[in-house]
Amino acid sequence: TTSPAPTISPPPRTTITTISYLLLVLLLLLLLNTYLSPQTLPQNTGSGWYEDLLGFFRRTDVVSVTPWLAPIVWEGTFDPVLIDNIYKPMNLTIATTVFAVGKYVSFLKDFLETAEKHFMINFRVRYYVFTDRPNEVPSVNLSGGRHLTVISIPGSNRWQEISAQRMKIIHNTIETQIRKEADYIFCLDVDSKFHFRWGAESLGRLVSVIHPGYYDTTRNNFPYERRPASKAFMSMDQGDYYYGGAVIGGLVEDVYILTKECQKRFEEDAKNSIEAAWQEESHLNRYLYYNKPSKVLSPEYLWQDFKARTKKVKVIRFSGVIKNYAAVRPNAPSKPVSASV
Ligand SMILES: *[C@@H]1O[C@H](CO)[C@@H](O)[C@H](O)[C@H]1NC(C)=O
Ligand SMILES: *[C@@H]1O[C@H](CO)[C@@H](O)[C@H](O)[C@H]1NC(C)=O
Repeated sequence: TTSPAPTISPPPRTTITTISYLLLVLLLLLLLNTYLSPQTLPQNTGSGWYEDLLGFFRRTDVVSVTPWLAPIVWEGTFDPVLIDNIYKPMNLTIATTVFAVGKYVSFLKDFLETAEKHFMINFRVRYYVFTDRPNEVPSVNLSGGRHLTVISIPGSNRWQEISAQRMKIIHNTIETQIRKEADYIFCLDVDSKFHFRWGAESLGRLVSVIHPGYYDTTRNNFPYERRPASKAFMSMDQGDYYYGGAVIGGLVEDVYILTKECQKRFEEDAKNSIEAAWQEESHLNRYLYYNKPSKVLSPEYLWQDFKARTKKVKVIRFSGVIKNYAAVRPNAPSKPVSASV
């Protein structure tokens, strides 16, 4: 049996014409795109509708998306007015936890006063202050819709223990209180001040911040825990960013799971008499390698006052104050809690 040879008829004239038109349109779109692309726009002329449209996506000096397509939030990559218009109608409550143990209570006043100026303005905010010195919590005037709860916790003779307890205390307080009172949560370090807008652009399911000491360096320089015996272990071919432990955020339920997991691994390490290189920050980094954050904040959201501002960091929103570790820590340590360079 032989099958008949297929007959190939030339495409009709109309098809060729259609294809030509489509190619022409494509070429025009490409040209238009090149003309309007951010790189070719004049800088700082401040007029023209297309500038308004594209102005917010003009940053080409920083990477603004992770390899798993989570935004990396830098000034100039978002429209604050648009963001507020999206999130305001949701009537969200943002929980904010800080630990003010021992002499760290002295940082509370500046933290709260600057937060009232820059942090989640016109949103409902609930501060949860954990302290062993409730009588020394300063009275700060809070704006409408903002609320402060003081929760007493025991003091400690070792700052490493305070750090170790942090995940556990946050976890327990989410369980008993915060999950009933808030939608999102940020766990922040108290020895810091706000200097510029920190708004709803920072909200996401699981949010972390790139440590200011490591945003401009390669993975092999990240101070992850490198001993396989630790539950925070990261091998040299693992890791995305080095995240700062001073900021943990996200939906309350997602941070609930994070704190549970980090605490569990921290305790397993303790049982094996091992303390990860940067304590809970090391465990946080491991967790976030296996559970990718849905939004990553640039170091604008966690700077350090002793660091000079760089070209990429156009604004500093939140920054750790310069402090005398020996004066504020019970057991005068030789190194800061967070990895620093
Ligand atoms: C906003 O949320 C708060 C607390 O969750 C609630 O008391 C208040 O009634 C809500 N407001 C509106 C307009 O839904
Ligand atoms: C809080 O505000 C009230 C009224 O505006 C003012 O009288 C009071 O001094 C303020 N308190 C503090 C601690 O700033």
